[in-house]
Amino acid sequence: MTLLRSSTLLALLSVPSEAFRSGNSPQQQQQLANPINIDKAQPVASTVSEAPMPFKWPIVGTLPDFMWRGGVDAMREVHESMYREYGRVYGMSLMGQDELVFSDPRVFDQILRKEGKFPVGGAETVTSFIDYYEENDMTYALQSVSRGAVWKDWRTDVNPDLYVLWDTYLPVIAETCSKISKSAGREVTEMENLHVSDFLSRAAFDMFSAVLYGESPETSDTEKATPEDIEFVKATKRAFDITGALITNPLEKVMGSDLYKDFVVNMDKTVKLASESGMERIAKASERKASHESSLEVTSAELTTKGEYDSTNGSGSSSGCPVAAIKEGLGVGLNREKFIPSDYKNPSFIERLVNRGGMSNDKIVEAQTPLLMAGVDTTAYVMGWFYLNMASNPDVQAKLADHLRETLKGADVTTVEQMESLKHLKACFRESHRLTPAAPMSIKTLEEDAVVVDGDGRSYAIPAGQRTSLNLRGLPMDPSYVDDPDSFVPERFSPEAVAARKGTPSEIALDHPAFRDPFGRGKRRCLGANVAVAEMTVLAARLLQDWEISLVDPNEAVHSPTKTWKTKQKLMLIADPYPAMKFTPRRK
Ligand code: HEM
Repeated sequence: MTLLRSSTLLALLSVPSEAFRSGNSPQQQQQLANPINIDKAQPVASTVSEAPMPFKWPIVGTLPDFMWRGGVDAMREVHESMYREYGRVYGMSLMGQDELVFSDPRVFDQILRKEGKFPVGGAETVTSFIDYYEENDMTYALQSVSRGAVWKDWRTDVNPDLYVLWDTYLPVIAETCSKISKSAGREVTEMENLHVSDFLSRAAFDMFSAVLYGESPETSDTEKATPEDIEFVKATKRAFDITGALITNPLEKVMGSDLYKDFVVNMDKTVKLASESGMERIAKASERKASHESSLEVTSAELTTKGEYDSTNGSGSSSGCPVAAIKEGLGVGLNREKFIPSDYKNPSFIERLVNRGGMSNDKIVEAQTPLLMAGVDTTAYVMGWFYLNMASNPDVQAKLADHLRETLKGADVTTVEQMESLKHLKACFRESHRLTPAAPMSIKTLEEDAVVVDGDGRSYAIPAGQRTSLNLRGLPMDPSYVDDPDSFVPERFSPEAVAARKGTPSEIALDHPAFRDPFGRGKRRCLGANVAVAEMTVLAARLLQDWEISLVDPNEAVHSPTKTWKTKQKLMLIADPYPAMKFTPRRK
């Protein structure tokens, strides 16, 4: 993102690029069918400048071409057109920052394998948060967006109860989703208290708060929410939204603009309200802990003992499957009975940190802000795309609702087994991510020089510190590998369809783990990935059993040529302005 910081200064500098040429010649398709053979790589490695790319001007590099293609706001379209024009590998150079973009995930795998012990995290690019933590001496929050041993210490503290034992929150998430669904029709449609985008943001806040604190603040129900909780959810959303604007226009901070001041005000509110909520819960948890002391003999040292648990490998991260993650987590010896005392079944995340001991109350309080910033509106944005796809495709939604009713018979999802049984819902989420991902690229930066090889044996040199990306708008949207790529067709992810394309280039374009979900891969994979999948699954299962969700204006459908919204790059991709929807009770 830092590459783009000066882009607004040069918005007027634009020259048309040469006419599009196809990036998918028969020769290129053949390359994807070839296995990558590192041993047979040509010895000379290409650098960014030798990769296909637009004309590179002095100082500004390829920025004029970037702006001509749409600039930061149109990041998704920029990479779609770059893929069409240059194919599966291309370079960019914005204001002196070089970047190689690959579309073949097998090349990206090689980069991932070289990420080392303390990799660079995607979270490090969100500089507004880093600046805020630094300016407010929030050293523990800062650890989450750092690298090296300090990052690892932080991740070791928080990983067990969020990444590994994610499923233990299912009951409280289900209870929260049941409440959310009860008020959905009234809030969004009858009383029109909340636009559907705010409703989703509040639902995400309620679900993550339930994980953090053990109960939902019910902000998605305006009749029940307290003014403090409304203030809390609004501040969190506003700070997140402004961060997107600050990233695309760094001058806001430099000039101390009203927008930047607004960011600080909302971060201050989030920190203050999180601190108050956290302290209250810590006090209660400490009381409870005192009365359970005899049954809680676990120390944080036990948790990190070699062989018992490693914060970044007991994660099942490459599979991206929360169910696999919990099995792997248990497989490495995590004895959940020890951590979750049976006389109170579902302690909150805060309560567990208190129970484990080893973390000061100040640290526990400070841990919340980065989690709220990373864990609430990210989920809301991804849900935003999912429900937009559902509302745009009423037949798909009706089929999914039938599947949910047949499988769950009206019940809430409270167990891993139920989650596993919802295969068609999983396919719908997978298809939503393919067609409308919340980011157009996966990004990695290596700390050491590396060389990677593509499908035709060409090698590429990647210097330490240079950003490399995987284009999510290349192969998954390419009609050479994906039938009717612009349509929402979850059946393409049915077990039969997946089995039928095994060993073909389409398998790489559709089923490669790099394309499976929006949480990144490797050691810096999203801490909340499994919790987020659980939240989105449980909520979708509840809402779609109860409600038919439709667009107020059907012309706003994703595939409609007359829609008025655009896909814009903020902190994540959003549909802007998000179209209005209505909730109609589903016939039982
Ligand atoms: C659908 C919702 C979410 C999406 C799309 C998402 C996406 C991501 C991505 C792409 C990364 C960077 C991965 C990398 O560096 O390779 C990340 C990191 C992170 N996410 Fe999420 N996330 C979501 C939900 C959550 C939730 C619910 C939490 C709450 C615990 C969370 C906490 C974090 C944290 C703390 C990091 C930094 C991890 C590290 O650097 O070790 N995220 N997320």
